[in-house]
Amino acid sequence: MSAEQPPRPPTAKLPAEGGAAPLMEVEGLKKSYGPKVVLRGVDMQVTRGEVVTILGPNGCGKSTFLRCLNLLEQYQDGVVKLKGEVVSRGRPEDRKATEEEQAAAQALRLRVGMVFQRFNLFPHMTVLENVMVGPKKVLLRSHSEAYDVAERMLSKVGLWEKHPCDPLTLSGGQQQRVAIARALAMNPDVMLFDEATSALDPVMTRDVFGVVRELAAEGMTMILVTHDMDFARDISDRTVFMEEGVVAAVGTPEYIFDQRPVPGIQKFLQRG
Ligand SMILES: Nc1ncnc2c1ncn2[C@@H]1O[C@H](COP(=O)(O)OP(=O)(O)OP(=O)(O)O)[C@@H](O)[C@H]1O
Ligand SMILES: [Mg+2]
Repeated sequence: MSAEQPPRPPTAKLPAEGGAAPLMEVEGLKKSYGPKVVLRGVDMQVTRGEVVTILGPNGCGKSTFLRCLNLLEQYQDGVVKLKGEVVSRGRPEDRKATEEEQAAAQALRLRVGMVFQRFNLFPHMTVLENVMVGPKKVLLRSHSEAYDVAERMLSKVGLWEKHPCDPLTLSGGQQQRVAIARALAMNPDVMLFDEATSALDPVMTRDVFGVVRELAAEGMTMILVTHDMDFARDISDRTVFMEEGVVAAVGTPEYIFDQRPVPGIQKFLQRG
């Protein structure tokens, strides 16, 4: 028997490492905007505690995919499961959501936290209020419970001292860390990041990446879209390469970055 390990499997269909049950499963997700087909059947599985980065050329559908995962966008076909339970299904564009589907969508959004490129904090609320509002208004926590969770989450991102401030007095990186704290305060099963640092300078980017690294070390399940290849390589358990609305390749960062298993990756990594 050879001592050499075979390369780890590239296929998106395989369960994640070690055969652990997937936390999130996406099967055949399709999304169009009118006649424009954007996602052509995306399959993905993410295990609890796994960090998956999604790379791919501009316009290949990365943001659309994340937005479908927490139903900021409705998709037309496919299914998303969390912990084995179907949490959303595709629906034809011409059919309205039933009340049951609307309730399921609300429930799903609570379980899937999302951090965007722009920070989207409420400007008329303090930093503290920004983090407390979800637990209070949506999770119906008491004031003191919401305060406690906000204090923990703002401390986790290193910004408790800023809690009385107006968010617009914070730097972009600090605002982004508050946005992360706000998402974490809802105690999501999985966190999605869509180019969370692309509006930031290198110092602020480093601080935000530091928070993401800590979350990874604590076992938070995360799916990150990023154009920062060094970070993607460093943080990912698995890396997904998307191309024209499908998963073109998936594997360890070494597999994707070093073996470059499809021609599109080669081109993508050589760009700009
Ligand atoms: N609301 C919309 N209506 C119509 N087309 C859209 C809409 N949103 C996105 N698209 C199209 O869907 C395709 C995928 O867009 P998406 O933003 O998901 O790409 P992306 O991979 O995130 O790109 P980038 O790297 O530039 O962020 C693009 O062709 C885009 O023009
Ligand atoms: Mg995008």
